[in-house]
Amino acid sequence: MPRALLLENIDPVAAELLGAAGFEVESQRGALDEADLTAALDGVDVLGIRSKTQVTAEVLRARPGLAAIGAFCIGTNQIDLATAAGAGVAVFNAPYSNTRSVVEMALAEIICLARRLVDRDRALHAGSWDKSAAGSHEVRGRTLGIVGYGNIGSQLSVLAEALGMRVLFYDLEEKLALGNAQPCGSLEELLERSETVTLHVDGRAGNAGLFGAEQFARMRRRSLFLNLSRGFVVDHEALRDHVLSGHIAGAAVDVFPEEPREQGDPFTSVLRGLPNVILTPHIGGSTQEAQHDIGRFVAGKLVDYTGTGTTNLSVNLPTVALHGSSVARFALLHRNVPGVLARVDALVGEHGLNVDGQVLATRGELGYAVTDVSGPLPEDLLAALEALPEAVRLTVFARRAR
Ligand SMILES: NC(=O)c1ccc[n+]([C@@H]2O[C@H](COP(=O)([O-])OP(=O)(O)OC[C@H]3O[C@@H](n4cnc5c(N)ncnc54)[C@H](O)[C@@H]3O)[C@@H](O)[C@H]2O)c1
Repeated sequence: MPRALLLENIDPVAAELLGAAGFEVESQRGALDEADLTAALDGVDVLGIRSKTQVTAEVLRARPGLAAIGAFCIGTNQIDLATAAGAGVAVFNAPYSNTRSVVEMALAEIICLARRLVDRDRALHAGSWDKSAAGSHEVRGRTLGIVGYGNIGSQLSVLAEALGMRVLFYDLEEKLALGNAQPCGSLEELLERSETVTLHVDGRAGNAGLFGAEQFARMRRRSLFLNLSRGFVVDHEALRDHVLSGHIAGAAVDVFPEEPREQGDPFTSVLRGLPNVILTPHIGGSTQEAQHDIGRFVAGKLVDYTGTGTTNLSVNLPTVALHGSSVARFALLHRNVPGVLARVDALVGEHGLNVDGQVLATRGELGYAVTDVSGPLPEDLLAALEALPEAVRLTVFARRAR
């Protein structure tokens, strides 16, 4: 029976779907460090994680039996994707499932900051009646600058316009501007023209320290700042300085350079205790709706991959889906060099089998071919396929000949 290990409190729907597909599933609430993860992966075919578990090259090398990893979140830079691909380990994520949740939270925070709701709430809980319009603003008519116009940034653009905001955005790539949103030619231009700046860039290494003292200084006086993307993108000391000086009138931060590993672990940050600063424990995408959808989506990808070889939306392997059914199917991940497919088909023919269906896709140094054949797969054919010098991983999905 294939085994799945699910870490970090993944929605139970994932265990249900994997269980229904024949997996023996073990679920754990927390993340594991490198040594514990390596030990826990003994005999495991499929690993499910969220953003905290680091799947390093060492872990992958130590567990060559691992077939696939589900990142039950958006980001995948906690996984050494290149090593995983080279070892034939497919990685899947959920690029869309929690984007709406992040957008809704960003919108809520933009309004909270503009109205200084958190300070008013704290004061009233402390018994102080502080009724005043000073420093409170409508968001209607104000300019929102979105840095990173991807799945989240572009949805936020549409909903912010529905509230009457003017939207500017800046992205490294050419993007279709939705509604009346206007692209900016540079980050500097966006900072100078916006009254609220919100970061929705991805977690690529080059974004480390993207936003520091220079960028905060460029922002308009008394503007608002949000980061719901990645913690390492922002210099928190610089943010603190600009909040304390009054240059930044308020901030909402959901992601931190170092985040506690476990529920209830202590949290330290130079941003704690600042006025009109909302701190949340990386919950932008954490709604029950999003978690359920992520669980369903990623588990579905893992079931499809392990059951049929389909790699659609894999983040590190060539993407292929072969529809239809045949007597037997095998998938060969191989080095992307000329002639491999011809050798595969020749071997199949030499064993008196017909190729019923076949798809090939390549990605960088890897090729991935899924092949349906007309009869059960003889062991010596499988051995010959595995012995091809270009073979990285052979997976068999249906009957072997007895
Ligand atoms: N807070 C949460 O709970 C939570 C939940 C989901 C996603 N996220 C994070 O939100 C971020 C955005 O997610 P997404 O799904 O929209 O990603 P995405 O990949 O669809 O979009 C990211 C966009 O940022 C652009 N970009 C990257 N670096 C840039 C830079 N330096 N300047 C300008 N543009 C840049 C990219 O070209 C891309 O268009 C990611 O970092 C993701 O990890 C956080």
